Parts: sequence; structure tokens; C-alpha cells
Amino acid sequence: MISNVNNILLEIKDKCSIVDVIGSFIKLKRTGQNYQGLCPFHVEKTPSFSVNEKKGLYHCFGCGVGGDVINFIMRYQNVDFLEALEMLATKYGINLDKSNDSLNNYKNLYNIHNSFAKLAYETLYSKVGVKALEYLQTRGLNKNLIEMFMLGYISHEQDFSKVLAQYDTKTIKDSGIFIIKNGSYVSRFNGRIIIPIRNKIGKVIAFSGRSIGGEQPKYINSPETSIFKKREILFNMDKAKADTNLLFLVEGYFDVMALYNNGFTPAVCTMGTSLSSDHVKILKNYFKEVLLVFDGDNAGRKAAIRALDIFIQGDFIPYVTYLPDNEDPDSFLQKKGPLAFAEYINRKDDLLLSIVKSQYLNARNNINERVSIIEKFKKFLEDIKNPYRRSLYIKEISKICEIDESFLLKTIELNKSKPIITRKSSGILRYICEKDFLGSLFELSEDLVQSLLIDLDENYFNDDDMKKIYKKIIENLKKGININDLVRDNEVGDIVSSIRMNSDDKQDYYITAIKNKNKLIYNYLNKKKKKILLALNSAINEEERKSILESLNQLISKQKKLYIHLLEE
Ligand code: CTP
Ligand code: MN
Repeated sequence: MISNVNNILLEIKDKCSIVDVIGSFIKLKRTGQNYQGLCPFHVEKTPSFSVNEKKGLYHCFGCGVGGDVINFIMRYQNVDFLEALEMLATKYGINLDKSNDSLNNYKNLYNIHNSFAKLAYETLYSKVGVKALEYLQTRGLNKNLIEMFMLGYISHEQDFSKVLAQYDTKTIKDSGIFIIKNGSYVSRFNGRIIIPIRNKIGKVIAFSGRSIGGEQPKYINSPETSIFKKREILFNMDKAKADTNLLFLVEGYFDVMALYNNGFTPAVCTMGTSLSSDHVKILKNYFKEVLLVFDGDNAGRKAAIRALDIFIQGDFIPYVTYLPDNEDPDSFLQKKGPLAFAEYINRKDDLLLSIVKSQYLNARNNINERVSIIEKFKKFLEDIKNPYRRSLYIKEISKICEIDESFLLKTIELNKSKPIITRKSSGILRYICEKDFLGSLFELSEDLVQSLLIDLDENYFNDDDMKKIYKKIIENLKKGININDLVRDNEVGDIVSSIRMNSDDKQDYYITAIKNKNKLIYNYLNKKKKKILLALNSAINEEERKSILESLNQLISKQKKLYIHLLEE
């Protein structure tokens, strides 16, 4: 499937000019190698949005977004990959339908989900759906809400023949909706309320089934498929994204629906999995503020601490509010109503500060505990990337922890370990060689890339983003996916585009790769050397010392050889 889509991608990229395509939506002006214009993805007065025809990429130096022509259409027109492909193919006269099974598979997968959702909706309003409909009514969901979320029901005796007849076996299997029982297909959601899960442009891509008679498990979700990745999907994102001010992030499907029922919008939840870095990135892209609503019990507090870590890594800190013990938004709204809920919204607090406050208050009379709490939050502060945000939090946290602000500031280590070989680049990336190395890979043939990567692993990368990109490159190579597709990756696409846009296209990329690889190895050996020296200090006997010294010698001679190469440049 992948290689087939790849051919179409290549054909599209061959035939269409990214400058033409983007230029048909926004005004571009030639400036040297690049074309520039006002970025359509953030508000700006002077152009920082750049398009490079030769590399087929765009990048905004203001807000950091970037990618290729397909991903521009996806972003600008708010469509999915397949639709963007179709739009470009139509425009450039590339025939998708006849050329390609794999695209049809993609389409069929969307269609079978749609058919199943319709079947479930009809069944809910048929005779066999009476009990399910009653169940939804006891949970306060009226016809309007049911329609809004396209809820449905699939009975134990459901007849799937009409749906199955429309699709080939591959689609039926790949959809993840069905399992084979006694030689025939049955849905994995039989006897359950059907909650369709949609992607952000509203296409049904998966289902969750809620039991109604207390059967376990309470929910059954679709398995991951090529159109359904749990770490990227937030339930109800298609509706939520219409309103970008304050988003409610809750734990369950019924919580989301109860909030809509009571006029608290927009709201989303994850697929019962914990929040991922992809989720945070999506939230940060779409919403000004996010409010987490948790149960006030221990589990809720723990979930909040887990979420904090992911949010800080994503450089986006939400609000939080805790409901009374053992209440979720749905149960609380049922019992106490919207006015009482609004009070809890008013009580919202900054997630980071609220956690610092509660932990610090608990440790008030114990110096040791206070020290360990300060040390823990110091780490969080070090992870906040935006310098202004970091500075404001340092101020607030020093107040809460009754510690001098300038003293706290001094102990924050912004440069944890200093590598030997670096060039300063306005302090944003300290490991330039890592960026230059990975950047050159995108310009080389796959054979060369493979050969350059063969003796490295993720430990050679110190910068978190570069480590992520490295891992994704390896993943793509394994799966046989072109590594240049990473310009459209949810997590690293913007960074990859910016690296590629910034690399000088007159250089010899292979030589750049080799030179920077040597620097990587040098830095890595240096890290290793430090570890060995530590081990040497704690060696227990002469024999151990000797063998440690031996490995130290080997390492130093390796480093020396490399150093000579590096000096030759
Ligand atoms: N969940 C799941 N699979 C389960 C249990 C839970 O996927 N076996 C997910 C669902 O998304 C669910 C969320 O985790 O909405 C929260 O689960 P839980 O708190 O147990 O249920 P509620 O959302 O309160 O469900 P309900 O109100 O329907 O009882
Ligand atoms: Mn609930």
C-alpha cells in the first residue's frame, strides 16, 4: 500500500510546483532562492513565510510550521491526506482511480466505517434498539445529542450482510470492526451502544462500544488501523475545533457528551489512553487555553501529575479543576446541574502551580520533603522552553516554596551538560552537528543514508528533537517509507521542514554528513569517557581498575584519531 501511494506522491511532486499551489492561495514574492509571503497560519504584518521551489518545501520562520505541498493543502484547507492528494491530482490531471488499489483501500476504509455507523444508528431506532435507547435516555441524552454524535446500537443478532456485501475481504479485515466467529464475520461491538470516533475533519475512523447491561469490559474500542492512531486522536475534535478559546479536556466519552448537553463547549477526551505528546501538540495548535477536569480523588490527582509532564514537554501549560471525589463531569452534571459545575470552572488553577501548591503545603513542616519537592519542580522549570514563561513560573514557584527568586534562578541549570564540539546558534540548538548531520540525510539516497546510520544509535543524539527525528528515520527505513515523508509527520514535521529549508543547497551533502557524524561520535565518546572515569573512581580492586583503564585507553585513542580528522577541516 505504502509504495503505491509513494508513486502517486512522486508523480504529484513531479508535476506540480509548490510555488504555484501555495501562490494560488496567498501572495508570494520572489526573494533570492525563496518566495516569501504573509504566513496563513498565524497573524503577522511582515512576511516570514517562505517557499522553496527546488526543495518542494514551505516553512514559516515566525510560527515554525512547515512541510511539503500535500501537507500545506491539508493544513490550509483542513482536509485529510487522501483529500489533499485528490485535490492536487485533479488539478494536475493525475488519474488516481484507475492507477491505484491502495488509494481505493484507503477510501474503502472510510466508507465501511460510515456504513457501520449508519447501520448502528438505524438499529438504535429499530425494535431491537429499544433497550439501548432507554439506556441513553437514562443518561440524559436526547435525540438531538444522539444525532449530533451519531450514536447507535448493534444487537447481538445483527445482520451485517448488507454492509459486508459492499466491501472486499481486505477492507473488512483492515477495518478492525469485525472478528471471525464460527467462520463468519461478527462485529466486535455486538450488544453495545456504538460511539463513532471521528478524525478532525469529521470522518468516522473507529468506534467505541459501551456495554449496557454491566458486561465487562465497559468499553471496547477499535484496534489501531492505518486510519486510526490512538495517540493522535481526540474524541470530538471535529466539533471542538470550531471554537478555539477554552477547551475542556476530560476523561470519558460520556463526559464530553454531557458537557455538550449542558452547554459547556468545546470538549474532547482521549481514547481511554493517557495523553500523548501528539495530543498536546494538537491542543496547542488549536486552542488558546485548555482546562483539565479531573475527579478529585487520588487517581485524578495522579492523572494530573502525569499530564503535567507531557504538557511541559510540549511547552503548553493548561488549567486544572478538581470535581468532588468520585465524580466525573457526567455524573456531577446529572446530580448537581450546570450552575454547580460552573463554580468548579471558576475555581480553575494553573496546572503546574496547583500541583506545586498542594504538594508543598503537605510538606510544610518537613524540611527534607520541602527540599525534595523544590528539586523536583526545579526539573520541571528546566524543561520549560519558552524563556518568558519559564521566568514567570520561577517567580511564582519561588513565592509558593518560600525561597528567594534570584537564588532559585541561579540553581536552574539551563545547560545541563556541555558538549565539547558546538557552535553557538542564538542559544536555540546547542548540538549543531546533530542537526547538520540529520539535515543532510534528507538530501541523500536511501543507500547512503543506511550506510551512514549503520553504526549509530539514539544515544549519539543529545538534543531531544534530534533524537526523535533520528528514531523516526530509523522507523521509516525499517517500514520502507521514504524518510522525506517526515516533513508531514505530526510530531517532527515542522522541525524537519525547517532543517531542510535552512540547509544550503550548494553544499556536498555527503561530505557534510560525514564531517558531522565525526563530531557526533566525538561528543558521544566524550560522554562515555566521563562515565568510565566515574567507574574508575568506584572500582573495587586493582583488576577492575586495570580493565577500566584499558577501555579508557582504547576510547582515548579512538577520540584522537577522530580529532585529527576534525582538525583537518
Ligand atoms: N475506557 C476504555 N475502556 C475501558 C474503560 C474505559 O476505553 N474498558 C475509556 C473510555 O474512553 C472511557 C474512559 O476510559 O470513557 C474513562 O473510563 P471510566 O472513568 O471507567 O468510565 P466513564 O467515562 O465514567 O464511563 P461511564 O460514564 O460510561 O461509566
Ligand atoms: Mn462516567
